Amino acid sequence: NLSQIDQAKANAARKAVEFVESGMKVGLGTGSTAAWMVRRLGERIRDEGLQIVGVPTSGRTAALAREVGIRVITLDEAKWLDLTIDGADEFDAEMNLIKGGGGALLQEKIVATASDKMIVIADAAKEVAHLGAFPLPVEVIPFGAEVTRGLVEELLGAFDVMGRRTTIRMSGDEPFRTDEGNLIIDLHLGRIGNPRQLALMLNQVPGVVENGLFVDICDRIVIGHADGRVEVRD
Ligand code: A5P
Repeated sequence: NLSQIDQAKANAARKAVEFVESGMKVGLGTGSTAAWMVRRLGERIRDEGLQIVGVPTSGRTAALAREVGIRVITLDEAKWLDLTIDGADEFDAEMNLIKGGGGALLQEKIVATASDKMIVIADAAKEVAHLGAFPLPVEVIPFGAEVTRGLVEELLGAFDVMGRRTTIRMSGDEPFRTDEGNLIIDLHLGRIGNPRQLALMLNQVPGVVENGLFVDICDRIVIGHADGRVEVRD
């Protein structure tokens, strides 16, 4: 028996997978919603003989994709993708996103950017008027991480944000490590006035590898509502 949220995620994933056609090279996102999408692709491969290759955005997704029978290749082998389907932590009316709650933002942004189209799948609770209630993940290399964090905090001083607290993401007693071995600084901003500018400026700080703001990357959002409706926005 699925919770309403899980059902909404599964419905959105199922709808988005209808946009996948045989012959496509597909970017496979990370997270609980994306996992529904990967499993649904596996069903279509088994039931309809759908022929695709997949480029996963994390070790977790790669393992699941193989398990459900998707042929997995690297992004460099694929060179370019037809479509990426991924979840998000927040989205706004402009289809700007915060991603990286699962820590996979770097591979996710590389893969989505290397795709003709990015479709986001999400439950309706993730829609916001202004991004920023969800802490913004920033991936930094471990060398000098505290100094990098200080520079990021200094930078936030110049931005229209509600809060400026930062935390190093933990996994138990140890700092959380991304698939690349990097750290995540979560920025508790409350509300981000200018996501585009913030995304650009964060990546100017030495030591920052990437941030979880996806601006002008997503082309379509498939939203699962609690009452079972699925909405497609272009
Ligand atoms: C993974 O790094 C994230 O970008 C996910 O896409 C995001 O956290 C959404 O995850 P859920 O689908 O589990 O909410």
